[in-house]
Amino acid sequence: MKNAWWKEAVIYQIYPRSFCDSNGDGIGDIEGIISKLDYLKRLGIDIIWLSPIYESPNDDNGYDISDYQNIMREFGNMKDFDQLLEQAHIRNIRIIMDLVVNHTSDEHPWFIESRKSKENPYRDFYIWKEGKDGREPNNWGSWFGGSAWEYDDATDMYYLHIFSKKQPDLNWDNDKVRQKIYEMMRWWLEKGVDGFRMDVISLISKNPAFPDGEIHGLYGDLAPYCAHGPHVHEYLKEMNREVLSQYDIMTVGETSCVTLEEAKKYAGEDRQELNMVFQFEHVDNGSGDYGKWTTEKYDFKEFKRIMIKWQEELQGKAWNSLFLGNHDQPRSVSRFGNDNPAYRETSAKMLATCLHMMQGTPYVYQGEELGMTNVYFDKLEDYRDIESINFFTELTESGLMTPEYMMKCLMLRSRDNARTPMQWDDSEQAGFTDGESWIKVNPNYKEINAAQQLKDPNSIFHYYQKLISLRKEKDIIVYGEFEPLYRDDEQIFAYTRKLDQEKLLTVCNFSERNAEMEIPEEFKGAECLITNLDRTVFEGKIVLKPYEAFVLYK
Ligand code: GLC
Ligand code: CA
Repeated sequence: MKNAWWKEAVIYQIYPRSFCDSNGDGIGDIEGIISKLDYLKRLGIDIIWLSPIYESPNDDNGYDISDYQNIMREFGNMKDFDQLLEQAHIRNIRIIMDLVVNHTSDEHPWFIESRKSKENPYRDFYIWKEGKDGREPNNWGSWFGGSAWEYDDATDMYYLHIFSKKQPDLNWDNDKVRQKIYEMMRWWLEKGVDGFRMDVISLISKNPAFPDGEIHGLYGDLAPYCAHGPHVHEYLKEMNREVLSQYDIMTVGETSCVTLEEAKKYAGEDRQELNMVFQFEHVDNGSGDYGKWTTEKYDFKEFKRIMIKWQEELQGKAWNSLFLGNHDQPRSVSRFGNDNPAYRETSAKMLATCLHMMQGTPYVYQGEELGMTNVYFDKLEDYRDIESINFFTELTESGLMTPEYMMKCLMLRSRDNARTPMQWDDSEQAGFTDGESWIKVNPNYKEINAAQQLKDPNSIFHYYQKLISLRKEKDIIVYGEFEPLYRDDEQIFAYTRKLDQEKLLTVCNFSERNAEMEIPEEFKGAECLITNLDRTVFEGKIVLKPYEAFVLYK
């Protein structure tokens, strides 16, 4: 396998709206991010992934872009951005941008033109279809609720929107669209940005037949006709040839619905498409008929099986992105660990250990390094996320779920759990803003905040700092070969890594109960690199405490 800086790096995701507000309007901004670069440097991360900061009407918090080459007013201006890039680079931190090009905002000038008339030069920038028998062109359901088609009066036709109706899908089969996007990407790269995280890039090529989908819930499933469509690899290869390969950058694709086969195509070492992809099988574990809207807990054995599968199958062929949380997922400690105060710290450290010692590039989502938890809003008025609000309305009004049940689903799975403000200190509004935050602060900020953890050498923050610094010291953590141990154990996730003569053993107890195990002979006398409890004996038969984790090196 080839060495690369983006394999050796740790990436930190910033959701700018909720990170740090510099001017008291209750909305995080670029100046706020600049003021926290030293904090990130102290944590030791190498790359920032910035969620969208472009001009946007904010129907989906910046994932609906109306101008790719301007900064959202609430976040600052282009001068602020240039400052951020310069200040990050001074600290040896790279910045990758969110590239949202499956769709634009309906307020983007291209769409404003496109909807004017059938003859408009921009008409073919989007996907327009005639209705069928006075209805939508097919039965596809939008991923944000309702039909995926919106009727437009002006021309008596429908346009496709996989997400909200304010996020019309671009027509990638039009080469003018592709050339415009490549031009815009070059413009950012010439500025010096270090790469892209490509939003739902697996959806850009649609099956030209637009057939009805199998009914799931209220609508037909569009995924088989939009994910990994007929030209997606051809377009990514073109993008790579014309843009990506001209720069020393990194790329990660958000490849919704990706399978192993497809991942090897998107991110295969010699494929000239992307450097790595996000897969979602491990976080979708437990989804039912209504997708993520369930109160089912995740299944540990299934989770472990999926993680191991991706480790084993991509080894030597493609590179993994390692993540447990992001701005679309609930807080990882609440979902996969235990956010009860008795176990929050231990389980957050355990999850970090398990993830950071695997093969792949680890991603830290803002606040994860503090063990921030779900917010558990119990009133619909507290929610801000379009997905949560739309599905609450759709599933309760249709009678498929009771409001009480749906509220429970939101508490466990809503994206807003990850979007409450970063908890900087124990002052009012958690030090995030001097004004009133756009979304409520998690009330546990008095106990969980950065200021307190920076003072405490045993904090989750310092544990992450140590994990990240170990990665810099030991190549085996980056490049070592992965092999699972105790595949069928119901509590323990354990695996080894091997590189030349060196070996590493990671052991994690994912349960709230003690767990017995035997340390393999070959690790006799090994050194303990990190542990989340106070164990000193690492030989023979041992009993792991709840959520205990450690890493041995020999
Ligand atoms: C991606 C983003 C998500 C957004 C959606 C539409 O999944 O991560 O936040 O809502 O795409 O752009
Ligand atoms: Ca602000």
